[in-house]
Amino acid sequence: MNFQQSQTFTGQKNTGVQGTLGNNLFKLEDVSVTFGDIRALINIKLSIDKGEIVFVTGASGAGKTSLLGLLSGDLKPDSGRVSVPSPRRCFISKVFQDLRLENRKTCEQNLWAAYDSTIYDNKKEFKKDLEDLAGVLGFDNRLDLKIKDANGGLKQKIAIARALLSKPDVFIADEPTASLDTGNARRLFEVLNIYNVKKGMTVIWASHNKELVKNFSGRIIHLENGKLIYTGHACFI
Ligand SMILES: Nc1ncnc2c1ncn2[C@@H]1O[C@H](COP(=O)(O)OP(=O)(O)OP(=O)(O)O)[C@@H](O)[C@H]1O
Ligand SMILES: [Mg+2]
Repeated sequence: MNFQQSQTFTGQKNTGVQGTLGNNLFKLEDVSVTFGDIRALINIKLSIDKGEIVFVTGASGAGKTSLLGLLSGDLKPDSGRVSVPSPRRCFISKVFQDLRLENRKTCEQNLWAAYDSTIYDNKKEFKKDLEDLAGVLGFDNRLDLKIKDANGGLKQKIAIARALLSKPDVFIADEPTASLDTGNARRLFEVLNIYNVKKGMTVIWASHNKELVKNFSGRIIHLENGKLIYTGHACFI
């Protein structure tokens, strides 16, 4: 990966000066996002390095999904500058709040949607990764269940596993533990931590539940009413 090759999205009101990303995978400079009269994000300045684990926290409406939208390139700023890595060099996999699963297909069939012959040597290798993830996330006995018959927690795990099976450089998840209990949330963190340590995967995880993610190791970016209030280690917030 060459993260020097970045894309820059510039808001209309502030053109700024273009530069390389350096060690930063993502960089936001004085970025604001509005929806009509609503100021979803206000003058956000932040950077995220390759290999970081970052939790974006804040109450409902604080701007978490908007921030993730900027990082994933789904949303453009009204002002300020957003630099993200080039998709040709860095693959970002996203788990949205609406999980975007195929209801009439089974859990396993939904996972196979991540299969790509350019990133796996063969289907056997993919199947092994699939079964390993099913084991550690605890749904190995549910692979034949149709999504329409699955509960919220299982659907969430399938969406997360599908994203991981695409072997992303960056994993972005919006409220990935919304339907998970604390034990499953911890197990998810441990899986993401392994991918982070072993594969260098950058993790960006949005949660309204600050108290939960404070228990996990990573950096917190806390938003309130569209403003970045705090960024740093969980123990100081
Ligand atoms: N597409 C949109 N159109 C209009 N307003 C929007 C849109 N997206 C977000 N907003 C508003 O922008 C603000 C920030 O929303 P955002 O979804 O980023 O917050 P959030 O922290 O993700 O909230 P939640 O925890 O409920 O998911 C809110 O006031 C929201 O109503
Ligand atoms: Mg949201």
